[in-house]
Amino acid sequence: MIAKMFDLVQKYEKIETFLGPYNELWDGEILNEFPRIYGSPIEKWAKLYQELSCSEKAERLSNYSPLNDSDHQELLSQINELIKLPQSDIVDSSRIYKVNEKKSHEIHQILNFYKNKKITNLYDFAGGVGHTSEQLSKNLNICCHCLDIDKNLIETGIQRTQEVHFHHYEIHPNMKLSLELPADILALHCCGDLSQNLVDYFPSSNAKSLLNLGCCYHKIDNHSFCHQARYLATRSHGMTSEEDIKEREQFKTYRYSFGLLLNKFYDLSPATTLKSSLPELYQGNFIEYAEEQLKRLELSPLKSCLIEDFFNSNDTLQQVKRLINLGHVRAPFGRLIEIQLVLKRAIELKEKGFEVQVFELFDRAISPRNIAIYAQS
Ligand SMILES: C[S@@+](CC[C@H](N)C(=O)[O-])C[C@H]1O[C@@H](n2cnc3c(N)ncnc32)[C@H](O)[C@@H]1O
Repeated sequence: MIAKMFDLVQKYEKIETFLGPYNELWDGEILNEFPRIYGSPIEKWAKLYQELSCSEKAERLSNYSPLNDSDHQELLSQINELIKLPQSDIVDSSRIYKVNEKKSHEIHQILNFYKNKKITNLYDFAGGVGHTSEQLSKNLNICCHCLDIDKNLIETGIQRTQEVHFHHYEIHPNMKLSLELPADILALHCCGDLSQNLVDYFPSSNAKSLLNLGCCYHKIDNHSFCHQARYLATRSHGMTSEEDIKEREQFKTYRYSFGLLLNKFYDLSPATTLKSSLPELYQGNFIEYAEEQLKRLELSPLKSCLIEDFFNSNDTLQQVKRLINLGHVRAPFGRLIEIQLVLKRAIELKEKGFEVQVFELFDRAISPRNIAIYAQS
């Protein structure tokens, strides 16, 4: 059961108006914007984050709770209001054999969502090896088709179960696949533009309904939100533990210090793209990390003592802390960007005459990419 409907356009416009004045914050990664100094009160908030322990940061970021500051309280109270969406009931569920906790939760939620709907043929686009299709077919006694671009996944699916009809198929713009009617479309965690392709395809498919959840928004081509804002959306809304914060800050201390080093000694952008390092390098000595990255970038080596002095200098330490904590100020904007990206798709469907609902289908602590569009003819 979904709690209540809301006006999609009104919500979209409210978020757009709210986001406008903060665009310098969410529109670019903090390191990419270096040496930008942010306006008041953003720098003040970064300083307040700096005073918190990792567990306090984790609590605030997970729960969208404010800092001890009236401006931040006002900001978070607006964000909390704007990110509110109707929620599906979370069903108590036993773990489904052979799938992980996240997938198991998603399958139970989708089963619960479809259980009283009249479905004959369900088309599970980008369905991978067909775990979701299999359970829907078994539990709802319907005919499920699982379509995926990856031949290996399709082959594995065919070996695994006879409950599902598997098809090797590529979702693309302007697709014209004809479905066996009456049909319903499921498009779960269709990355980047795949969700948009299905939103565009649905009206011509003659399917009765489309249930779509997107993910990997940074893979979308050409959107009014820049890549970095969409990347923030892709990583948003998960629950964050003290350990996550410690790990992230350790990683960023090295990444940002190295960025500043590139800027100072090589006159390069601090955000110069690096090839990803082995996780162990972030746990070891900064000199080893920096020497490895310089080698990968084919830059002339620096003396170890120079690297060490730069890393330990007060200027670097302070600057890196400031940048990391500006990232914490920026984080809550990710969910708003995600909601805008989803609402845009939902509004397009509504404008084409479909009845459209937008709601949270999954528990965010288990599966944070949980915003569903359900469109019916
Ligand atoms: C994030 S997974 C989602 C899988 C499944 N729906 C789920 O939620 O567990 C994305 C899937 O999309 C498939 N895929 C990627 N590009 C595709 C395309 N153009 N057409 C069809 N499937 C595609 C991948 O092979 C992968 O199985």
